[in-house]
Amino acid sequence: MNVVICDDHQHMNALAAQVFIDLLKSNPQAVLGLATGTTPIGVYQKLIDSYRAGEISFAEVTTFNLDEYIGLHRDHDQSYYYFMHQKLLNHVDIQGQRVFIPSGVEEDYATYCQWYEDRITEAGGIDLQILGIGSDGHIAFNEPGTALGSRTHITELDPQTIRDNSRLFKSIDDVPRRAITMGVATIMEARQIILLATGENKAEAVRDALQGPVSSECTASALQQHPDVTFYLDTAAARLLQNE
Ligand code: PGA
Repeated sequence: MNVVICDDHQHMNALAAQVFIDLLKSNPQAVLGLATGTTPIGVYQKLIDSYRAGEISFAEVTTFNLDEYIGLHRDHDQSYYYFMHQKLLNHVDIQGQRVFIPSGVEEDYATYCQWYEDRITEAGGIDLQILGIGSDGHIAFNEPGTALGSRTHITELDPQTIRDNSRLFKSIDDVPRRAITMGVATIMEARQIILLATGENKAEAVRDALQGPVSSECTASALQQHPDVTFYLDTAAARLLQNE
């Protein structure tokens, strides 16, 4: 795995955005895997800037988001559908029919999860996936204990994730307890993966992901077995890494 440590967040966002920009220039029909959370917002802003500068277009791009809270309608201001549109999709020339964000309000999730997997397959798989990491080591909402062979499924959020994400809700009681998420195996099929982590509270998860055993206790550790992953970290998030 490649690790880039960079304290200037603007520079880090620019480096991560450049991976997308290079891909879109060489393949305007690329399939992108997108993540929500606070960490990738700066990367999305750089992509909007690049689009506005006429460097890239999303007209033929397909996107798949990692996850969504169960029970939040797409117009709820904490839904990931809403987030993606606010932070990126409303500001570029992407076609709505090529935007896939898991729905939080389905009745038959067994059918729906398979449908979502089938759409990824039909699109030819994900070329480039961006990830954050939870303080509990999750990627998407693959919480500790999730099988590394998992595919898109419904999950119970870990108490630590509920606490972490409560900062974005009026109260902790408003944080949904369940989510739909791509599985670890779904994510591992992306051809290229970049993971961003900033801040002290990610340091343990980053250490476990990069230097711990491959284990479902830290689902990000599965990335050690992927052939093309780069972690972009600030010094605080990289604080516990041992030189190898
Ligand atoms: P964050 O979330 O970017 O808001 O820290 C990351 C994650 O939970 O994957």
